[in-house]
Amino acid sequence: MDQKQFSQYVAKVFNIGLSRDTLARLFALCGYHKKIALIGWSDYAKHLINVLDDRVVSVIDNDPQVRGIQFRGVTVQELADAPRDVDAYVVTRFEHLNEYMRALAAIRQYPAVPYLYAEDYHGLSSAFLNPMLHDPAYRGLAAAGPPPPTMMNGDRLILLLEMLRIALHYEGAVAEVGVWQGGSVWHLCQALQRLGALRTVFAFDLFDDADRLSGRAIMAEDEIRRRLGFYPAVEIVRGDVRKTMTRLDKEKLCFVHFDNQYQATVIPYLWQRLVPGGVMLLDNYGHVRSLPAFFDHFFAAQGVHVAFIPPLGQGLVIKPQPPARGR
Ligand SMILES: C[S@@+](CC[C@H](N)C(=O)[O-])C[C@H]1O[C@@H](n2cnc3c(N)ncnc32)[C@H](O)[C@@H]1O
Repeated sequence: MDQKQFSQYVAKVFNIGLSRDTLARLFALCGYHKKIALIGWSDYAKHLINVLDDRVVSVIDNDPQVRGIQFRGVTVQELADAPRDVDAYVVTRFEHLNEYMRALAAIRQYPAVPYLYAEDYHGLSSAFLNPMLHDPAYRGLAAAGPPPPTMMNGDRLILLLEMLRIALHYEGAVAEVGVWQGGSVWHLCQALQRLGALRTVFAFDLFDDADRLSGRAIMAEDEIRRRLGFYPAVEIVRGDVRKTMTRLDKEKLCFVHFDNQYQATVIPYLWQRLVPGGVMLLDNYGHVRSLPAFFDHFFAAQGVHVAFIPPLGQGLVIKPQPPARGR
């Protein structure tokens, strides 16, 4: 099909769920390549099969739900089963961008064979990765339905989950101080479930015990329990954390999400329970009213720097590992 015929085709395309511009870019990327493997079973893939005659030899998609689908003689195959003697890979699913580049690099197909992707996919720029869309561990989160309300924006939630993943290299439970309506702890539990790491999660807040006229006290413990019902290892701890923290007396922690202002007795207590290598993320560190100077003072005395994470200033602290013996 030449460019004129393609333009006529594109004019007829239903652009529900796809962009005609992206389709045109993908078509242009296919260029003169004779044996093309498409990455991702999508409406773009179907249109490209329509217009590229017999130049598409495979659609690669590891999703078991689509594996084996046949369309105009082309089969959706797992990467392991797909032919390797192709001239180019063309990405038709934005979410697959990084995952399949990594997989093809691992089997040395890329960069030996060009890996082509559009500048954007229906408005989503492919210039930068977005872990929530590009990392298979998080991708399903969107399908889990709307999370409970959270005061944290998407960037803060990404850092939260990425730090959790680093902490999971070490033994211990997870604690969040400052749950509010449960949005951040819901993300923690979702990520743990998806990563197959069934760590106990302790969720500390005042919940129904909070001053009802504070203006923010809409944390219904019962509702939060229900929203976290999908995760079997969560423990809700209601009350003032300065008193309830003793629930952790026998626990080791690998990760603490501290979403509160500095609490003089609580921070040292949690730090003591954090295992070496464990991570503490201080969500409110960048808020002057949360007393960053007090956090700095305490952690400096432990020989640790609180890393300020832009733009809003979550504070990140990692507990040092003891030096290896014999060095
Ligand atoms: C910034 S909000 C937490 C936001 C939450 N992480 C989210 O995802 O939206 C702080 C929470 O800390 C709780 N809090 C404040 N002082 C507390 C205390 N002494 N003990 C337990 N929880 C406390 C408040 O009830 C409030 O829900």
